[in-house]
Amino acid sequence: MEKQDISTKIYIETYGCQMNVADSEIVVSILNESGYEKTDDIQSADVILVNTCSIRENAEQRVWGRLDVFRQIKKKNPRLTIGVIGCMAERLKEKLIEEEKAVDIVVGPDAYRELPRLLENAGTGQKAVNVILSREETYADISPVRLDKNHISAFVSIMRGCNNMCSYCIVPYVRGAERSRDPKSILKEIEDLQKQGYKEVTLIGQNVDSYNWKPDKSDKVSFSQLLEMVAQISDKLRVRFSTSHPKDMSDEVLYTMSKYKNICKHIHLPAQSGSTRVLERMKRGYSREWYLNRINAIKQIIPDCAVSTDIMTGFPGETEQDHADTINLMKEVNYDFAYMFKYSERPNTYAARHLKDDIQESIKTQRLTEIIDLQNELSEKSKKEDLGKTFEVLVEGFSKKSKDYLFGRTSQNKVVVFPRLNHTIGDYVDVEIIDCTSATLIGEPTSKKIN
Ligand code: 5AD
Ligand code: SF4
Repeated sequence: MEKQDISTKIYIETYGCQMNVADSEIVVSILNESGYEKTDDIQSADVILVNTCSIRENAEQRVWGRLDVFRQIKKKNPRLTIGVIGCMAERLKEKLIEEEKAVDIVVGPDAYRELPRLLENAGTGQKAVNVILSREETYADISPVRLDKNHISAFVSIMRGCNNMCSYCIVPYVRGAERSRDPKSILKEIEDLQKQGYKEVTLIGQNVDSYNWKPDKSDKVSFSQLLEMVAQISDKLRVRFSTSHPKDMSDEVLYTMSKYKNICKHIHLPAQSGSTRVLERMKRGYSREWYLNRINAIKQIIPDCAVSTDIMTGFPGETEQDHADTINLMKEVNYDFAYMFKYSERPNTYAARHLKDDIQESIKTQRLTEIIDLQNELSEKSKKEDLGKTFEVLVEGFSKKSKDYLFGRTSQNKVVVFPRLNHTIGDYVDVEIIDCTSATLIGEPTSKKIN
């Protein structure tokens, strides 16, 4: 694609998960190559892109609200091009153009290489939709343009798509089949990040445990092998990963984590429910007992590992007993952190086609409130257990409240605020925990930096 003479300004807004954040960085890279320039000022943009999420109905509602705002901006600036990209683009396709008169292009997660061409056509008044899903696309050769603020921590996509088909989930429909990215391109991207001064990478994929690169048998690379290769790049580079799947998380990965200090001691292991009966209906591929077996393996192999989870409440047919089983699973595991949601029926999924969304909204709300209250207690307990301990903290920025304080994370992914002294962003600082609030640990550095 030829570079344009005058730079065209794109403004991009991102909703949804880490995959979408990483995808927006790929989109900006593709567009930069074609002469577009990113702007943070929506009013001066020539193109507005919104990278969307379909996971729950309220995620889509939020985007519809934003499209109303973009339409108002377009009234003042008729030459503005509006593009919807990502999961909602894939799910709704041309409906987005039909229902929302201001949208010009609709581009799914595997068609971003087409963006320059589609935007150029849109400039001449041609509306366009490209939502073709691919079995191969991993954008392996594209160097993402980092959109994060601090340049300390970056997401690196290691795979795309999902083959799991959990009965409630829209992801396989909007992101297509699972494919792993060439490990060589992953390692190169991370080595470059390290040279640029990044201190932490998070390897991301819908189900990292099923990462499997196998061009031919001799070159096969599993997730634990990839993790080890990344950990060996530099012991000063922290490595995280997300998301693990309980049915696939192997002891091998846990042993690799325990072997390398720079692999962070935190696993996000979505349980969804504590009831085997519900897990079967969700088609999760594991039972409560299997899940607890994985938790025990984590606690035995990596005793200082933090565990977080996703819980969904009000799934079709969920009884009071099922709900009680989720509550007692949470208590048994003692999660450090959790994301909690009400079930939201997604069109065309197995659950939408076969299971009636029969839990009343008021009951969903009541159960969600109960699990949130419980998790607040568990999170507080997890922080209190850190009092008096010393952790290595990677500094990410200044505290919101005062420039005299820094914040960063422990290996366990807990946020710590502490007095700055002569430390700065990007440093590793040993901090003793002396207090905590509901969301944050508060500490004192155990030493000043030796300059
Ligand atoms: N309704 C509510 N929550 C959902 N999730 C996935 N699909 C749905 C749905 N239809 C939640 C799961 C998943 C997280 C990313 O979002 O808990 O782990
Ligand atoms: Fe991410 Fe799933 Fe939302 Fe897509 S639908 S942005 S994959 S959470």
